[in-house]
Amino acid sequence: MPGQYAKPGDIPAQTQIHDAQPGLEHEMTPAPNATQLEGPNGLEEYKGSGKLTGKAALVTGGDSGIGRSVAAMFAREGADVAIVYREKEEKDAQETKKLIEGAGRQALLIPTDISVEANCKKIIDQTIAKFGHLEILVNNAAVQYIKKDIRDITTEQLEETYRTNIFAQFWLVKYALDHLKRGASIINTTSVTAYQGSPHLLDYSSTKGAIVGFTRSLSANLASKGIRVNAVAPGPIWTPLQPASRNEEETKSFGEKSVPLGRVGQPAEVGTSYVFLASNESSYFTGQVLHPNGGSVING
Ligand SMILES: NC(=O)c1ccc[n+]([C@@H]2O[C@H](COP(=O)([O-])OP(=O)(O)OC[C@H]3O[C@@H](n4cnc5c(N)ncnc54)[C@H](O)[C@@H]3O)[C@@H](O)[C@H]2O)c1
Repeated sequence: MPGQYAKPGDIPAQTQIHDAQPGLEHEMTPAPNATQLEGPNGLEEYKGSGKLTGKAALVTGGDSGIGRSVAAMFAREGADVAIVYREKEEKDAQETKKLIEGAGRQALLIPTDISVEANCKKIIDQTIAKFGHLEILVNNAAVQYIKKDIRDITTEQLEETYRTNIFAQFWLVKYALDHLKRGASIINTTSVTAYQGSPHLLDYSSTKGAIVGFTRSLSANLASKGIRVNAVAPGPIWTPLQPASRNEEETKSFGEKSVPLGRVGQPAEVGTSYVFLASNESSYFTGQVLHPNGGSVING
């Protein structure tokens, strides 16, 4: 499909291909697009319209990829934003900080490991200490390690994937809950792999399935408090997670054949779903999943 976005197929041979996570956005060529959407006249910057004025948001994995787009768009909509990431991603986090502050909002940077429960409590404490309130919690951080054979998935990998991708979502909600009031919004990042399965991501895709169940159950649990809980299930998106876990050939063709739109998606094309779910415009949505996935029709 013709378009303005740079494609992974254009990646030069020397681009970042990691076997370690998290991946680093500043090493990626072409750079992912966090803030521009394609229209009839080419790429246009996302402009806010006050949808989140006066709110405070916490976005895990907010240094890069989908989380960076969410953080930037939330700030353009008027929210102050705290982002959580790993220490080695400081350079990416500083870029996201510039995007938040460039929109005239406050940024809080929290480098820590969310796979440890005590750190999740500290994240909430630091966010409240800085902003004094919290209205939007985006549970977005994750790791994925591709393994073709279940016998190669060590218990150590299984635990890291579960602790990071789903345990941390429980812990952050648990510690945030005392601060969330009527009208607050929790948004969890799941994946198309929760619905379609993924033969080489057995542990990752099963955490994403757990996130769908968690989202639906928590939405019913918190409905009487007026706190909404929804999820976003992206398809193939050009973010550091992908070159950090795939070989060069897989990276170049990532997303091309697997979706009707015939191309990988950009973070900006996913960030808009979070804006909708965080804003009052989705006040009758809870327990739902949005599917920015390039057109794959799934039973979700
Ligand atoms: N990119 C895709 O194709 C795709 C598709 C479906 C779902 N997703 C989901 O989107 C979300 C965001 O990923 P992304 O694709 O933007 O990649 P990304 O690499 O930019 O984001 C993942 C982030 O998770 C954070 N993280 C990982 N382990 C952590 C830990 N222990 N403590 C703190 N932070 C940690 C890192 O800061 C990292 O930046 C993830 O939940 C991912 O599963 C991505």
